[in-house]
Amino acid sequence: MAATIIDGKKVAAEIKEGLKKEVEELKAKGINPALAVVLVGENPASKKYVANKERTCEALGIKSVGHKLPESTTQEELIRLVDDLNADPGVHGILVQLPLPKHMNEKEVMHRIAPEKDVDGFGPDSLGRLVLDEPGFIPCTPHGAIKMLEAYGIDPAGKKAVVVGRSVIVGKPLALLLLRRNATVTICHSKTPDLRGECLSADILCVAVGRAEMIKGDWVKEGAAVIDIGINVREDGKLVGDVEFERAKERAGWITPVPGGAGPMTIAMLMYNTVQAAKGSL
Ligand code: GUN
Repeated sequence: MAATIIDGKKVAAEIKEGLKKEVEELKAKGINPALAVVLVGENPASKKYVANKERTCEALGIKSVGHKLPESTTQEELIRLVDDLNADPGVHGILVQLPLPKHMNEKEVMHRIAPEKDVDGFGPDSLGRLVLDEPGFIPCTPHGAIKMLEAYGIDPAGKKAVVVGRSVIVGKPLALLLLRRNATVTICHSKTPDLRGECLSADILCVAVGRAEMIKGDWVKEGAAVIDIGINVREDGKLVGDVEFERAKERAGWITPVPGGAGPMTIAMLMYNTVQAAKGSL
């Protein structure tokens, strides 16, 4: 039977609708939620993502404060900007779009963002809290993946979840979030000997590797939930995920499309974190 397509756009729209009301309530109390969006250089994908984030802020009544810096910006200049934004009481959240230009030290920048403004959830305080199961900012893409499962009534408890990809911004936090929801979690990566076998064992298969259609349709267990976090341009110019969608959807119980799955959810969860930051309540 063909899979239920998980409509990330619809789930994101519902979340944003709720946030819009929260923003209105905050404004009535004299709090004007504001997100600083920092972009260094001319990476075309980053420019597109940043424009999308700024547009969504505007739609929800959140002030976005854009800082577009040239490629030649020095590490010291960027750190100084982060320090200024940390100290600015009118700014609730700080987002520094990654990747940064090669000459910069991303880690130092991520570490510098004040924990109470770390709406990306990439800093050591946020990630430490995630490991400790303490309240904190959850990275937006994995949080969005969990929200899609929730929206479709897929409870990870007692299930076998496989996460392909171990990045700090997606794979690792997603594995922790699934574990928090009582799944039995396996993280796979480039040195995993039997990736196909691991994928076939998954009730919930989440993929974040950034390689077009690397996970074949027949690696998906019958009835599994598939969350595809990749977004790649295939050789023929088509936008595709990390999973071979057309064949996978014949076997899966649920599957996210690309585009229209994880992408819109990431932005919705960034807005969620920004509203949390403005509320000052984690
Ligand atoms: N680059 C790719 N994804 C992200 C993200 O979620 N946040 C930031 N800041 N940069 C990114």
